[in-house]
Amino acid sequence: LNKRILSGIAPSGIIHLGNYLGALRNWVALQDRPQTDCLYCVVDLHAITVAQKPENLRKSILNTAAICLAVGIDPAKSPLFLQSEVPEHSELGWILNCHVYFGELSRMTQFKDKSQKQEAATTAGLFTYPALMAADILLYGTHLVPVGEDQQQHLELTRDLARRINNLYGETFQVPDALIPEHGARIMGLDDPKQKMSKSAPSELNYIALDDSPEKIRKKFKVAVTDSGREVVFDEEKKPAVSNLLTIYSVAAGVSMGEAQRRFEGKGYGDFKKELAEAVVAYLAPIQERLRGWQSRPDDVRDVLRDGAKRARELAKPKLDEVKAKLGLGLWPAPVGGRK
Ligand code: AMP
Ligand code: TRP
Repeated sequence: LNKRILSGIAPSGIIHLGNYLGALRNWVALQDRPQTDCLYCVVDLHAITVAQKPENLRKSILNTAAICLAVGIDPAKSPLFLQSEVPEHSELGWILNCHVYFGELSRMTQFKDKSQKQEAATTAGLFTYPALMAADILLYGTHLVPVGEDQQQHLELTRDLARRINNLYGETFQVPDALIPEHGARIMGLDDPKQKMSKSAPSELNYIALDDSPEKIRKKFKVAVTDSGREVVFDEEKKPAVSNLLTIYSVAAGVSMGEAQRRFEGKGYGDFKKELAEAVVAYLAPIQERLRGWQSRPDDVRDVLRDGAKRARELAKPKLDEVKAKLGLGLWPAPVGGRK
């Protein structure tokens, strides 16, 4: 039996290097692992947990899907779909909302962060966001969820929910594992190595967007924060900024951390940052070229999403029906299984 892989990304005008190194890169790699079936989802329903302008959301959806295709998601292998086009996600999300505890959701650090940072009032949707994410995952019998480190806690909650439902109603959900990369799972901000790289950072000097021009990339690395001292060495405690830049370099240049450090022995931060910028420019060039292609064909992107949703729904519907029957929802003559 093949392993099911599923992951999601929120639609945004900016998809950054952290998203790519922490998540998208693995999405692409997993497509070619034998005996895996991948499904990837642009999670627009998660996006509206904070205020969105409708025209911007529309653009971000298309932009994010185009980026997924440009980094190498192959829709022939892996359906790529829009979450709101598969209503089963919302339905199972509600059901899981009725099984997750207020206390569990209150402990989610992403909720605490996001609700504090926001000026606008916090919606209930932002609070119950992890239940919808659990629905995305559990609907498809997912085994592995490739994500960055910041999603670990949400995955733990998803596992708890799967086990809870299985205990209450009989074996229903596969208990999924997070797949978090060894390198790049937590890329930090270029302007502040204590905060993770984030599209909602106040300054655009925080991140490298996947579609930043070479000039912009060079400029952002040039002004990136470094640490005291002058040696280019990996030491997350003493040199958090340089360690973050070295992580980016080693992935972009395709070399080990040891080799990356060796290359900059006896060189200063200035030289290092210049070579780093060139490595990232070259690393992103083919992605950017494919992105321009997809951006010039928005109807093709829509077709990919439409076809993806059709395929996803075929998988989601029977699982949702099973869950509803087990809970005693609907008009079945008798609940299948039944709450113990
Ligand atoms: P989001 O943009 O929040 O939907 O995140 C999409 C994916 O990117 C998730 O798997 C995140 O864990 C991952 N991600 C987001 N920010 C970072 C970061 N700074 N470093 C590594 N991975 C990240
Ligand atoms: N919450 C994830 C994030 O912020 C996005 C997401 C939604 C997701 N549903 C998912 C990730 C399902 C993996 C699987 O990055």
